[in-house]
Amino acid sequence: MSGPAYRIEVYGCQMNLADAELLAGILEADGWSPAASPEEADLILVNTCAVREHAVERVVGHVKSLGVLKQRRPGLRIGLVGCLAQFEKERLAPRLPEVDFFVGPDAYRALPALLRRALRPQYALAPDAQETYADLPVTRGAGVNGWLTVMRGCDRMCAYCVVPFTRGRERSLPAASVLAEARRAVAEGHVALTLLGQTVTSYRDGATDLAGLLRALAAIEGLRRIRFLAPHPADFTPRLLETISREPKVARQLHLPVQSGSDRILEAMRRGHTRAAYLDLIREARAAIPGGALTTDILVGFPGEQAEDFAATVDLMREVRFDAAFLFAYSPRRGTHAERRLGDDVPRAEKRRRLETVIALQEEHSRARFAERCGRVLEVLVEGPARHPATDWFGRSSDLKDTVFAAPGAPPRVGEIVPVRITEATSHTLRGERVRPAGPEPR
Ligand code: SAH
Ligand code: SF4
Ligand code: F3S
Repeated sequence: MSGPAYRIEVYGCQMNLADAELLAGILEADGWSPAASPEEADLILVNTCAVREHAVERVVGHVKSLGVLKQRRPGLRIGLVGCLAQFEKERLAPRLPEVDFFVGPDAYRALPALLRRALRPQYALAPDAQETYADLPVTRGAGVNGWLTVMRGCDRMCAYCVVPFTRGRERSLPAASVLAEARRAVAEGHVALTLLGQTVTSYRDGATDLAGLLRALAAIEGLRRIRFLAPHPADFTPRLLETISREPKVARQLHLPVQSGSDRILEAMRRGHTRAAYLDLIREARAAIPGGALTTDILVGFPGEQAEDFAATVDLMREVRFDAAFLFAYSPRRGTHAERRLGDDVPRAEKRRRLETVIALQEEHSRARFAERCGRVLEVLVEGPARHPATDWFGRSSDLKDTVFAAPGAPPRVGEIVPVRITEATSHTLRGERVRPAGPEPR
């Protein structure tokens, strides 16, 4: 029997995608079922992000458009959940009369009780530094990829960042529950798992650190690939690099957010490492994963960023030549150290110019890095049929590049790893053809 219908819309990072699955699990345990379309929903949860002003404006615009739906469907309830709900409810509640309730990332357990009350608007926003939701089952979607939250919160307090304010103190899930959840996900067909935490490299449960957790996970039968997000460059241990290097199931890709190439700016950002330390880590990572991929996050226009600081960032990009990068212009966030103390002195047009410069440079590097894969045979984890051409297949290479490939003969199985010879590349996609693995010749 199907109960009232819910829909969850997600903005922001992977943590919010994973939390949407947690929210779905909480609702389904309480008798709700997924709505086939927004028009059929009795409840719409908008899981929100506060990391930049742009993210906030997008959510506000979207919730306004849901208000129209509400006029047509009077029973519909709208909940704002996640980081923005936590961070800005005082400012948002008057702007968004459409919203019936606000629930922060530590208060998702309160959702069923709150839905049973008719009051509005309601708030469940108490931070809870113990909450890990480790005991709650999540409802994962289809597909070979699965999220696995292993940590919540962040203690790093980078000067520009709102996340410690929205998600509170760092806490790790018990390794035993992570392993149990991983086995469950794999049994459901999610053979590629992404471990999530804002500073996933500080994962710890007793004697188990991230390296220990990766080793334990790698022993799970049927699990084909493991990656983790977001590591912090200051937290890398030789043991972690060695684990990545030795464990064939760990993806041959590392995301190492650098933010800036200037020591002065890195210090002002309170990132906890220097340019030289970062470049040392890049060298160690390249040695640990020969031929692997390196990606990063870069933030331009941080307060006080002079032309020479920006030039140092460009120079670092040229030195590393990342495979891909997420590039952002600084957006002041209320209450952060940078917003309170450092001003916002890089003019908007200059931020834009710097952003366009790094975007163009990264495009060049991505094109070159992807092209380097041509001629190589990569192990591709098959995700399903390609969109175009529909006769081809889609998957991700061991260094996590999107790959479209032809598979003449027997179709590959979704979730298996197949060798693909790369023949063409753009700056975002590899193309190739499956090669027969070495083995007995067909008779
Ligand atoms: N925990 C991750 C990052 C989380 S936020 C880490 O430390 O790497 C994702 C990215 O958003 C950051 O890496 C940063 O580049 C960007 N970002 C964070 N705050 C920002 C702000 N105030 N303005 C612009 N970009 C920001
Ligand atoms: Fe934000 Fe820094 Fe924490 Fe990343 S490590 S979430 S950038 S405070
Ligand atoms: Fe945004 Fe929250 Fe993620 S602020 S980036 S959704 S942790």
